[in-house]
Formats: sequence, C-alpha cells, structure tokens
Amino acid sequence: MEENPENNFQENLLKSNILGKILFSSSVIQERVSELGNEITNDYINKDLLLVCVLRGGVIFLTDLIRKIDLELNVDFMSISTYQGINKTSTGVVKITKDLEESIEGKDVMIVEDIIDTGLTISYLLRNLKARYPNSIEICTLLDRNIRRIADINIKYVGFKIGDEYLVGYGLDYRQKYRNLKSIYEIKLDMVKKDIDSIKTTSTIFEN
Ligand code: PRP
Repeated sequence: MEENPENNFQENLLKSNILGKILFSSSVIQERVSELGNEITNDYINKDLLLVCVLRGGVIFLTDLIRKIDLELNVDFMSISTYQGINKTSTGVVKITKDLEESIEGKDVMIVEDIIDTGLTISYLLRNLKARYPNSIEICTLLDRNIRRIADINIKYVGFKIGDEYLVGYGLDYRQKYRNLKSIYEIKLDMVKKDIDSIKTTSTIFEN
C-alpha cells in the first residue's frame, strides 16, 4: 500500500517544531541491537536467562533484542513509578506498581532498560532483585547517559553512550508520546525549555 505523505506522522513531526536531528537511525539501532544479541548469546550459553523489562520505555528495545538472542530464554515485566524532582530528573524514590509474575530464584537475570541516567532507578531495582536470590544479575541498556550518573553501577551491556540531549523515539517518550518512532531523535530544546520554565514557575508558586 502506498504511503500518503499527508498522513505520515513522522514526516509531519519533522516538519514541525518538535523533532530535531536524528541521533540514531533505525538501521544503526538495529545493527547495534544485533551485536548486543550476539554478545548475550555467547555469554549465556547453558544459563537460565530471564530478561526483566522495565516498562514502559524498555519494551521496544526488549522485543527487538530477544529476537537477536539465539538461546532459550524467558521474559518478565516490571512497572515502577519514580518520584521526579523539579527538573524532571529521577530522585531515586521508586515504587513498584507491577511486580514480576514469577520467582527469579536461581535465574540469570538481565534487566533491560531503554536509558540509564542518574542510575537511581536501576540501583533501586538491583537492590530489590538481588534480595530474591537470582543466580546472577546484569544490566543491558540501549542508552547510557553517564554524565548525569549519581549511583555507582556496573552496566555490562550498553548500546550507545549519549550526552545531555533530550531524546525521543524507539521507546523514549516526551510526555508519553513519540515512543513509536523507529529512530531516536533529539527533541527541540526550546520546546523542552518552555516546559521546564513552566514547571519551575509552578513550583515557585507552591513554594511561596
Ligand atoms: C526512564 C528509564 C529508566 C529511568 C532512568 O524511565 O526507562 O527507568 O528513566 O532514569 P534514572 O537513571 O535517572 O533513574 P521513565 O521514568 O522515563 O519512564 P518510562 O520508561 O515509562 O518512559
């Protein structure tokens, strides 16, 4: 079926004031996901691999990644809510809103994330899951923004290291939108800045 450019969501976004440049194109992402899948395949032969996906952003990465791992494996999902500070960064105050369906005791667990930023969310998850007696536990993240890192964590599998850009696409959202874009884009800063300014104004009103 031919695509109608008038109805092309991605094209329209690009023409609008929302998306900036592509940081990782769909083909670059797919290639890196394949490499990670091969690495994991080699490392987990004869292990009892369970991938734990942190909803919601991680789900796109997970579904591509598991199809590149040539082993028997299991998946399970967790949903958490993180209390966010004024500038929308994580505070490390985490609540589990959907727990795993099954026990991880004796399993070789891999936590799959779309992005690790301060590291506070993942360090909470690590503490929580380690207390359930897995055989091993590792982290796989598509994006690693280590310049904002607060928690001291060891990430075994990283797709790409990134800087301080605001990104959307391939699972990453802005106000819950744009997760379905196939590539990862920068979002235009003036739009984000307007939002941060309005959050600051609101919190100043509350603080006073
Ligand atoms: C993102 C990401 C991690 C967390 C990382 O989730 O998926 O869970 O932030 O941040 P941190 O390292 O600073 O703790 P987000 O809260 O955006 O939810 P989402 O996955 O539903 O988009």
